[in-house]
Amino acid sequence: MPTDPDAVAGKVAFLSKPCAACHTVRGTPATGTTGPDLTHIGSRQTIAAGLFETTHGSLAAWIADPQTLKPGNNMPMVPLNSVELRNISAYMESLK
Ligand code: HEC
Repeated sequence: MPTDPDAVAGKVAFLSKPCAACHTVRGTPATGTTGPDLTHIGSRQTIAAGLFETTHGSLAAWIADPQTLKPGNNMPMVPLNSVELRNISAYMESLK
């Protein structure tokens, strides 16, 4: 459960965006199965099948533009404003 205000807002944003239709975060309404389970993404060493170390910067870069980081993968770019992007990235980091 996130307690940091950015991460709390990020959870709300994540659940209201298409993210939740493709990803599962156990204990939340997000139960998508197209993409990887994100329940413990914040404690994983790498994302995108080992391509990038899991940091706030790499998470934000991935979420902002997955197709530039890993061309041809099955995650589309989801339009987010800068506040949503920051908050959702904080939420991902909080998922230990
Ligand atoms: C249409 C389905 C779809 C949507 C919508 C989607 N994703 Fe993804 N996501 C994927 C897929 C597929 C991958 C795996 C890509 C790869 O590594 O090749 C992925 C990977 C990820 C990863 C890296 C996971 C890992 O295990 O390495 C994160 C973090 C992530 N998505 C977050 C989000 C967020 C946040 C949103 C909303 C802004 C979102 N995704 C929207 C399908 C989706």
